Amino acid sequence: MACYGRSLDSPCTLALLVGFQFAFVLYFSLGGFRGLVSVLVHTTGPEFDYSRPHDVYTNLSHLGVPPPPPRNSGTGPPPTGPPLRDCQIPSPLLGERARGVQCVLLYVIHSYKEQLQSERLVGPVSVHLSSPLSLEEIRQRNPLVLPGGHYRPPDCEPRHHTAIVVPYRNRQIHLRALLYHLHPFLQRQQIHYSIYIVQQWGNSTFNRAKLLNVGVREALRDEDWSCIFLHDVDLLPENDHNTYTCHKQFPTHLSVAMDKFRYRLPYPQYFGGVSAVTPDQYMKMNGFPNQYWGWGGEDDDIAARVRLSGMKIMRPPVAIGHYKMIKHKGDRGNEQNPRRFDLLKRTRLNWRSDGLNSLTYELLSRELEPLYTNLTVDIGEDPQTHLLPADLQLHPVCSQKSCCCQSTPPHGGFVFLCLLSFMRIL
Ligand SMILES: *[C@@H]1O[C@H](CO)[C@@H](O)[C@H](O)[C@H]1NC(C)=O
Ligand SMILES: *[C@@H]1O[C@H](CO)[C@@H](O)[C@H](O)[C@H]1NC(C)=O
Ligand SMILES: *[C@@H]1O[C@H](CO)[C@@H](O)[C@H](O)[C@H]1NC(C)=O
Repeated sequence: MACYGRSLDSPCTLALLVGFQFAFVLYFSLGGFRGLVSVLVHTTGPEFDYSRPHDVYTNLSHLGVPPPPPRNSGTGPPPTGPPLRDCQIPSPLLGERARGVQCVLLYVIHSYKEQLQSERLVGPVSVHLSSPLSLEEIRQRNPLVLPGGHYRPPDCEPRHHTAIVVPYRNRQIHLRALLYHLHPFLQRQQIHYSIYIVQQWGNSTFNRAKLLNVGVREALRDEDWSCIFLHDVDLLPENDHNTYTCHKQFPTHLSVAMDKFRYRLPYPQYFGGVSAVTPDQYMKMNGFPNQYWGWGGEDDDIAARVRLSGMKIMRPPVAIGHYKMIKHKGDRGNEQNPRRFDLLKRTRLNWRSDGLNSLTYELLSRELEPLYTNLTVDIGEDPQTHLLPADLQLHPVCSQKSCCCQSTPPHGGFVFLCLLSFMRIL
């Protein structure tokens, strides 16, 4: 052959090198990039054995027992103990997925070992989906939870203050499964938290996003929460390293690996299930849409708002963001929303005028139950009257850099850019 025995600087070797480079680029453009990311992440990311989960109440009994007060000998003012130490909770372990290939390097630098140090967290926890205990039994197993579903670690100063907002209607069994699971889960993370159940009154079509708006507003009336979780009632977290805290800058999507989707993100912009915002982030995106009556679309609208308001979505590693979904048949009053695609086309035009600043509702009752705060709210009726023009274009999905390093193979061109920046860094 012509190439045999030639020296390195021959044109043939050069051609071979160029050929290899081309094949390399082609390979990664065709989806191999994801493999590369996962290989790099895999070597430093956490690994968990989900086949041997711990009970979700593991190590709860010796949690939060305050240190015994010092003996008070004699009179005088009662001794004030030393100030409480900070709660040892892992900082939000959010992968920098959105920032091109730099994210890979960040993964390498910030190995997750640090996150795994907390002695109280156990990793995978078992999830009981069927026949949950009664509310009274759950209460007995969570003696430190105060009325309204409120908890504050008694033996340390919490650094995170999280309101869990759950849109709800007629799902008693799911609610019990959620409360049974979430209370010990959050207590082990040593977070100061409350659980709010926002119940839609009446028989009109269910409106998840509007109920979330109501929940955020009502929760912030109670306390100065630093983080608000938007939580579906039928999703149970499977790993307590998935901390229920917020990223300082950007909204977080927590349920990245649901059993329903075979533990993968169904699509890059998916924001449904369990997500979190700080009050500032919530304000910045003008809250959530109020116009999505029925199932579907509102989570994509929220994801679009995140982008349109100049933010991006943060996510924990897939190995940590495991969730199980309680199976159920479709709900009456929560049929698929036939207008969702039309509405989504209009997000770009509507997000500034529809949301937090246009929210109207009537709070019918607010009850402090032993394990949760019950907000019953009249959010009005599904108008379903005027039709929308369908001639508006969807915003381009890949209009921003945030396409890179998403967990499904992004557009080949972007991968190429990522690759270039990766090489420059090296
Ligand atoms: C429970 O706590 C003890 C002591 O704090 C610890 O040694 C043990 O590993 C914990 N159990 C689990 C399952 O992590
Ligand atoms: C909802 O429907 C049920 C039965 O279909 C009815 O009894 C009830 O009064 C309705 N509630 C409201 C608020 O309209
Ligand atoms: C919440 O309160 C309303 C009004 O009192 C009540 O009808 C409803 O059953 C309560 N829901 C839950 C889940 O406790």
